Amino acid sequence: MKKLFGVIGDPISHSMSPAMHNDLFEFYSIDAHYQPFHISSENLTDAIKGFRAIGIAGFNVTVPHKEAIIPLLDELDPLAEAIGAVNTVKNQDGKLIGYNTDGSGFVKGLLNQKQSINDKKVLIVGAGGAARGIYFTIAKEGPELMDICNRTPQRAEQILNDCPFKVPARVLNRQEAEESLEKYDLIVQTTSIGMHPEISRIPLSVHKLKPGAFVSDIIYNPLQTRLLKDAVENGAGIQNGIDMFVYQGALAFEMWTGIEPDIERMRQKVLNQLGGLSC
Ligand code: ATR
Repeated sequence: MKKLFGVIGDPISHSMSPAMHNDLFEFYSIDAHYQPFHISSENLTDAIKGFRAIGIAGFNVTVPHKEAIIPLLDELDPLAEAIGAVNTVKNQDGKLIGYNTDGSGFVKGLLNQKQSINDKKVLIVGAGGAARGIYFTIAKEGPELMDICNRTPQRAEQILNDCPFKVPARVLNRQEAEESLEKYDLIVQTTSIGMHPEISRIPLSVHKLKPGAFVSDIIYNPLQTRLLKDAVENGAGIQNGIDMFVYQGALAFEMWTGIEPDIERMRQKVLNQLGGLSC
């Protein structure tokens, strides 16, 4: 019988995950289908009961359910538990087990760009859900230091307190981060600032970058945010959010099927889906 996979979120119609995963199922001749489910917060509990009843094989979880799903699951992977957010669920013999592949997807994408982490001074911009996953996973790799710059400092302090992998770190405001920018080898932008349609916005000025610095923005719409454009003008290497999206999906696919999928195929599928976006 065809296996059912899916993604739950609100909104969900713009998700690129169904096209990406269904293409992989076809490519690897797996008898399965991946369906987007528009689930409001008030229907989340019922939706998970329904998933159990129909024996869904696995699903992804996106905004706004990544935290709310946790008490509805049977088990949590330790990293997902520490992060406090789940983006991938696997049905293991009737048990729903929650994982977080966002942060590991980000790190895999970064390593794919030939960027090492353990000798780096890192600045994370933002302290929301995405930043938590990324912070914890980079911290696990042991960077030299990793500071956080966020509008609300308490959220950044919370990440430092909760992170199970301790690295030297400070919380900075925007001005402090801009003034000490020359110190960092790697800057990771995790906020929604600069995302379509507000593409002229920038979370911090990058005019004082260290020579050879690398700037990664998890936004992929537009493919090149104003931050990344400015970073290029200031001589930095850059990466957009496509890698993180593709690798988090690849890790979920591998968890569900045991197959390590073709990353380039996935990237092309996503770029086709995004079609027409300017670089
Ligand atoms: P996500 O799960 O996508 O990370 P989130 O948890 O809502 O979303 O976090 C959004 C991040 O973008 C936070 O770092 C937020 O800053 P605050 O913690 O101060 O709210 C940041 N952010 C969003 N809009 C912002 C704005 N207009 N100015 C500065 N920071 C902003």
